[in-house]
Amino acid sequence: MRQEDLEEVARLEKLCFSDPWSKRSFEEELKNVFSIPLVAKLGSKVVAYTCLWQIDDQIEIANFAVSPEHRRKGIGKMMMERVFWEAKRSGCSNVVLSVRESNLPALNLYAESGFVEVERRKGYYRFPTEDAIIMMKSL
Ligand SMILES: CC(C)(COP(=O)(O)OP(=O)(O)OC[C@H]1O[C@@H](n2cnc3c(N)ncnc32)[C@H](O)[C@@H]1OP(=O)(O)O)[C@@H](O)C(=O)NCCC(=O)NCCS
Repeated sequence: MRQEDLEEVARLEKLCFSDPWSKRSFEEELKNVFSIPLVAKLGSKVVAYTCLWQIDDQIEIANFAVSPEHRRKGIGKMMMERVFWEAKRSGCSNVVLSVRESNLPALNLYAESGFVEVERRKGYYRFPTEDAIIMMKSL
């Protein structure tokens, strides 16, 4: 992810989430030394993005989305492979994420990618309020 991608990333974020990050938040990710912000492009167009936070030997997936126009084409799976590659490259031994309990597409993708549920956080999300499922994968 680079400065010139931020407009499109912020536009996609608004399309994908009911409680979106602002463009400013993504700008901060570019400056954060613990963050690995990535985009997937088709030609010059951003079709997916993720922000990874490295905390000790763990990578946390802070944000992960594929453009609505480009879903069910394997881009999510491919981007997850890249997440694992980045995690290994950074010397991390596990990857963690949280997901809304109603988000079936994401839950399926994560289960297929080898994540397992490790915890539930009651009422963690807002707009609407919903439980979070915390999932982890050991590399
Ligand atoms: C979740 C998301 C990232 C999946 O991206 P994608 O590129 O469509 O996923 P893929 O095409 O790689 O699909 C991988 C697997 O995920 C599951 N999946 C994806 N979309 C699904 C859907 N609509 N319904 C059920 N399962 C789905 C399937 O198991 C799929 O494997 P299959 O195609 O072999 O059946 C995408 O739907 C998205 O951006 N959603 C909005 C943002 C979001 O919720 N992000 C996650 C926040 S925790």
